[in-house]
Amino acid sequence: MSRAVCPGSFDPVTHGHLDIIGRAATLFDEVIVAIGVNPSKSRLFGPEERTDMLRRAVEPFTNVRVEGFTGLVTDFCLAQDAPAIVKGLRASSDFDYEMPMAQMNSALTGVETVFLPTSTRQSFVSSSLVKEVAAFGGDVSAFVPDFVLAALTARLAERA
Ligand code: PNS
Repeated sequence: MSRAVCPGSFDPVTHGHLDIIGRAATLFDEVIVAIGVNPSKSRLFGPEERTDMLRRAVEPFTNVRVEGFTGLVTDFCLAQDAPAIVKGLRASSDFDYEMPMAQMNSALTGVETVFLPTSTRQSFVSSSLVKEVAAFGGDVSAFVPDFVLAALTARLAERA
């Protein structure tokens, strides 16, 4: 069975993530969406909230499951018997950020990274921008599932 890990912070999940996850699900027998911690990013949603939203968002994909992980993503991949990581690339800035991580992960363990170009409709969508636009009252309904929009609106109202 071919198995890949799709890691990220998913704070919160966007249609951009779901585009990559859905396409990865056509390439591999099983895709594990792995929610990790990026210490350089501040989080709006806790791990359980992000997991709940992702599980709901990936319900249409029968070969996708969602797990949390701590520590190295490559250790998680080995523990899951997954030899590949799938990442989406939006622009050259993503390439510059992802390439050294892909090379490090390959050097550490042999876990290889498969890059998928994001679809042009999603190429500007990121969780960070979605949160920023929503915080200033912008309409982000095109970029996240309805239930994520509701959670985002509620969380931002709590913090206002
Ligand atoms: O959505 P993000 O913020 O780009 O996700 C980043 C994440 C969590 C996938 C990345 O920071 C990660 O893999 N963290 C786990 C720690 C790790 O393995 N670091 C070494 C990478 S070479």
